[in-house]
Amino acid sequence: MKTYRVALIEGDGIGPEILREGKKVMDAAAEATGITWQWKAYPYGADHWVQNRKGFPTLVTEAEMAELGTHDAVYFGAIGDPRVPDSVNQAGLLLWMRFYFDQYINLRPAKLYRGVSSPLAGKKPHDIDICFIRENSEDFYIGLGGRFKGTRSHDELEMRRALCKARFDVDISLEPADEMGYQIGAMTGRNAERTVRYGFELARRKKLTRITLIHKANVLMKIYDLWIERARQVARDYPDIEMELAIVDAATMWLVRAPERFQVIIAPNMFGDILSDLAASIVGGLGFAPGGNINPDRKAGVSMFEPIHGSAPDIAGKGIANPIATILAGQLMLDHLGEERAALLVEQATEDVLAAGKVRTPDMGGRSTCRDMGDAIAERLLQLKP
Ligand code: NAI
Ligand code: MG
Repeated sequence: MKTYRVALIEGDGIGPEILREGKKVMDAAAEATGITWQWKAYPYGADHWVQNRKGFPTLVTEAEMAELGTHDAVYFGAIGDPRVPDSVNQAGLLLWMRFYFDQYINLRPAKLYRGVSSPLAGKKPHDIDICFIRENSEDFYIGLGGRFKGTRSHDELEMRRALCKARFDVDISLEPADEMGYQIGAMTGRNAERTVRYGFELARRKKLTRITLIHKANVLMKIYDLWIERARQVARDYPDIEMELAIVDAATMWLVRAPERFQVIIAPNMFGDILSDLAASIVGGLGFAPGGNINPDRKAGVSMFEPIHGSAPDIAGKGIANPIATILAGQLMLDHLGEERAALLVEQATEDVLAAGKVRTPDMGGRSTCRDMGDAIAERLLQLKP
């Protein structure tokens, strides 16, 4: 019997409510397939910060971060609270976790399930079914840049990643004097290669036949020519899978006009951030959008699974949040752990409950609670038990 040790971080706002239902469905999946979970809850969130970390730039200590890495996965609710600066939650936890554990893949599938309506007219269930892969550690989100007033500036900037360390000495002279801000985007060949390879491997495993590579090499050629070249090299190893290139603006249009043409999308960090929100919105919105921050090599770094929405303070404590994004994040976690059968059961049970249409949270136009939804999906899963 396989046992998985998973760190649970509820976080703030609706985090505890949704993660409770996610865990409930994961427990049902374990019962159905004979795996065992060893859950360990960590209190990281606003209360933790106020009590133990106030004034510090990070939500957890480095030792606490390292301890998360001793688990097989991290299952995460959401963080965000007015008592804590955004930078503490972002740079001091979520982004830090990505770099610390080298979670270079952000997997954000977007699938239109039975019983869910798309804002796009005439879309039937499964018309939209996209494996969306966003590069998660480089590009324009490395956080390096500067801002100055006058005519001269000098910045010494550094990017530290598991794969490399890069130093940038940036000298700028500006005529006439003004105020200037700049951000650096950077991509390394090895990271581009491994990101694209993950996409091809996923396509092969899921028996998909086409990958769309997003870029903007017509304008930002230094960075995206490298991206395309590395992708083409990888594609040679997968003659059974077609790779098409798509400029990000055209891809945006196609995502709205004909999303059914996409199977797997691989996008650089910044465009992937934007496009994956669009992809989520056309399959029902935030309540249905899961995400995985993944290091495919489980020995090299732990992966983290979460709904992509935030802590929804406007509905926190009311028990009406939709837990489906969190439950589907659990499905991604099972898939990552190699428990494909359990992952499929979670998805099937979720879709059956959605299709039946009896349990609907307020964001779906119904009056069911977060708990009703979790209960219904867990119960259905145990009925499906092979
Ligand atoms: P949000 O995603 O929390 O909420 C946006 C809107 O969607 C709200 O009206 C909310 O009620 C609704 N919503 C979100 N999830 C829902 C669910 N499961 N069921 C039903 N309705 C749902 O984004 P917002 O309001 O911009 O941010 C709130 C806090 O969350 C902020 O502190 C923000 O920094 C943080 N945040 C955290 C993230 C994370 O933990 N990964 C991601 C995004 C935001
Ligand atoms: Mg985003």
